[in-house]
Amino acid sequence: MKTVNTLLALILGGCIALSAQAQDQRDYHEMVYDSGCKTCHDQGMKAFPSDESCLQCHDMSELAEQTKREGHEAQQNPHDSMHYGQEAPCMECHGEHKPKQAICMDCHNFDFPKFKQ
Ligand code: HEC
Ligand code: HEC
Ligand code: HEC
Ligand code: HEC
Repeated sequence: MKTVNTLLALILGGCIALSAQAQDQRDYHEMVYDSGCKTCHDQGMKAFPSDESCLQCHDMSELAEQTKREGHEAQQNPHDSMHYGQEAPCMECHGEHKPKQAICMDCHNFDFPKFKQ
């Protein structure tokens, strides 16, 4: 009986630890969560994911194409901007568990209709 109780305590303890770790998730990444936190967290759970992790599934030149703009707005493309080209790290602008705004908004007031804070 004692071992059973110990086992139960361990299991319950495990559940509490897990729920304490629960993180806000983006709907659009539901599939990613199905394959586990480490699909993104390639640098361990205590660190932010690397850009390479996002680039497993996303492609920077495709993104630059998707968010391309015309005329005087051409250089406002967040994925190919006049300041950083295609080199800005994803997490300067995109959050996963917390809302975030694109770093451009620190200094400008652009309209990014497709952005999900
Ligand atoms: C295992 C694959 C996978 C990984 C890893 C991944 N994503 Fe995604 N992501 C997707 C899929 C699938 C979608 C939904 C389809 C789409 O919009 O491309 C998506 C959607 C998104 C969207 C929203 C698109 C919209 O609808 O506006 C953003 C922003 C995004 N991902 C950023 C990131 C960032 C930043 C990382 C790294 C921290 C990342 N993703 C890692 C697969 C992935
Ligand atoms: C789609 C990619 C993705 C998935 C899947 C994901 N994370 Fe994250 N995680 C991020 C990003 C991006 C950040 C940094 C920005 C933020 O917090 O919004 C982060 C940050 C964190 C942090 C904060 C680390 C620090 O240094 O402050 C924790 C803790 C964390 N994630 C836990 C989890 C857990 C637990 C899961 C699985 C339930 C998970 N993450 C799944 C992308 C992801
Ligand atoms: C730390 C502040 C800062 C950040 C962050 C920043 N910019 Fe700028 N940006 C400036 C300054 C300063 C100028 C030059 C002054 C001007 O012409 O407005 C400028 C000029 C521009 C211009 C030409 C002028 C205009 O307003 O049309 C564009 C386009 C631009 N930035 C796009 C971006 C984009 C896209 C991002 C995000 C990827 C970004 N900037 C991030 C400070 C910033
Ligand atoms: C300088 C800021 C910035 C950086 C860096 C950045 N993004 Fe974005 N991203 C944005 C903004 C802003 C939008 C919305 C653009 C719009 O509304 O036209 C966006 C849109 C997206 C979308 C949706 C595209 C669509 O057509 O709906 C995805 C997916 C995405 N980003 C993924 C990424 C990934 C992955 C990285 C890193 C490889 C990254 N982004 C780097 C600012 C950024």
